[in-house]
Amino acid sequence: MCGIVGYIGSKKAYPILIKGLKRLEYRGYDSAGVAMISDSGDLNVYKAKGKVDNLTDYCNDKDVSGCVGIAHTRWATHGEPSARNAHPHYSSTHNLAIIHNGIIENYADIKTQLQAKGVEFKSDTDTEVLVQLVEYIMVKKNLPLVEAVQVALHQVIGAYAIAIIDKRDPRQIIAARKQSPLVVGIGKDEFFLGSDASPIIDYTDKVVYLEDGNIAVIRLGEELKVISILGEEQELKVKTVDIDLGQIEKGGYEHFMLKEIFEQPECLMNCMRGRINVEGNHVTLSAMIDYRQQLLGAKRIVIVACGTSWHAGLIGKQLFESLCRIPCEVEYASEFRYRNPVVTKDDVVIAISQSGETADTLAAIQLAKEQGAFIFGICNAIGSSIPRATNTGTYIHVGPEIGVASTKAFTGQVTVLSMLALCLAAERKTISEDLYKQMVKELTQIPDKMVQALKTNEQIEHLAPIFTYAKNCLYLGRGYNYPLALEGALKLKEISYIHAEGYPAAEMKHGPIALIDSEMPVFVIATRDRLYEKVISNIQEVRARGGRVTALVTEGDTQIQKFADHVITLPDTLECFQPLIASIPLQLLAYHIAVCKGKDVDRPRNLAKSVTVE
Ligand code: M6R
Repeated sequence: MCGIVGYIGSKKAYPILIKGLKRLEYRGYDSAGVAMISDSGDLNVYKAKGKVDNLTDYCNDKDVSGCVGIAHTRWATHGEPSARNAHPHYSSTHNLAIIHNGIIENYADIKTQLQAKGVEFKSDTDTEVLVQLVEYIMVKKNLPLVEAVQVALHQVIGAYAIAIIDKRDPRQIIAARKQSPLVVGIGKDEFFLGSDASPIIDYTDKVVYLEDGNIAVIRLGEELKVISILGEEQELKVKTVDIDLGQIEKGGYEHFMLKEIFEQPECLMNCMRGRINVEGNHVTLSAMIDYRQQLLGAKRIVIVACGTSWHAGLIGKQLFESLCRIPCEVEYASEFRYRNPVVTKDDVVIAISQSGETADTLAAIQLAKEQGAFIFGICNAIGSSIPRATNTGTYIHVGPEIGVASTKAFTGQVTVLSMLALCLAAERKTISEDLYKQMVKELTQIPDKMVQALKTNEQIEHLAPIFTYAKNCLYLGRGYNYPLALEGALKLKEISYIHAEGYPAAEMKHGPIALIDSEMPVFVIATRDRLYEKVISNIQEVRARGGRVTALVTEGDTQIQKFADHVITLPDTLECFQPLIASIPLQLLAYHIAVCKGKDVDRPRNLAKSVTVE
């Protein structure tokens, strides 16, 4: 979950590296660093704790010349966040510098062996072990850098995306990957490196997504060469990336998160485009055509995901069970991968991930694959590791999500799950034709209804200061709105650092009701559906104990305002699509509360956008 950038060519490397790091800061911002081979042939490494701006301040009076360099933004795993543990790391002789994203699991053993041979270490990181090992092999076996990297990578256990430069050979960068993403950009007489394509797209749209176990030999004046760890030359698969630069900039909004909340109507239109016909009465997913037999053969669906994607999975479960009558389980990928679950070839495993890089989800896929399940991916980041590890899948197509708090990816995931459930239900004939058509039609209306829901922004901005004092908040919902209660609570926790719990409203009386007093805000999703009357009773239970209720209600509701302190009104829709609408005020609420508290909304503490470590 660190970010990697690299450049080699005839331009000044430093501005390109810094710009790239800023684009990748969502991956971690515990520290940042840069290594460049200067015009006079020195290998300069500069690093600073914290965000990229701290690094640029630090570099103000430094020699940042040179046309080759690598740079890194870190999310700490081994070793506290500090300049000392920041990447790049030098080798002992200061001839080599390395950056790394991932974890070298057997670093302690290798470190002990190298220390026994007299190698001295300057940091507590697993990464430094790798660069020291490479240098040790180069010297001991008299090997060129690329071959020493091959030998070293044979010895390490773990996940990595790395880039190494050698001051004695300033025309070369060696990069390699295993289970952590790495993209090489190919320009005219220049090359770029990135953990994703965002640091590259200003300069070229030609990229190679490095495959697991491969090494990129990037030499100026030569064609990019990709080899395996064994040295076998690999076919060069050059792809054209299609990311609009405007998509990854803030577009006039104060934060990416706010921009991404407001983008949702358009994102969902993109998500449905080409999948729902113009008449709005039929949905087709290409995966359903290509893998009809495997998907229809599912005796059970198992959804694996983490965080917000897991919450989307909980909504998926209700859709698959109620519409398709297929039993469905939703698993935290991190638990599933280690608990020896029963998975069979009759299962379809759906992996949901915005980034497509979440290590636990990837491992869960691997486990399910080994047991013969058919794997379906629901991802956003095109060409990322999860879509490549699955048998088939559907992209949510909501564009790059930069804010660490997931917003548009959640609604995109729920939309794809809804389309998939509708396809399966129609094929399995577990849904009447009328209901099918009504549901497809309603799905196409959701973007317009989201536009309505976004109009609550001003009201929520005014309400937000009332809640900044809170130490704890409770989110309640039932049915399809229960996962949304979890999601609302997660949003608040991660960006405002207020503790929040999501609960099924009726479960409250089995424990959490003891917490309720006038100090604890309670947010209730009380839209009009089958359980509406019951939710009203739950609201009264809260009120009876002095709780302060803010309720999300359906337009035209007159009952709930009698009991609630604040009411936020939303357009009506079918019960199963309510989370698509009601997620908007919950996202806005978390956003405005965090802004009122002066928090760094897009880069909350301790978090990273892409969790590529377990
Ligand atoms: O990229 P993924 O969807 O696999 O990420 C999973 C979680 O890390 C992610 O949803 C996380 O919980 C978000 N920060 C929530 O807003």
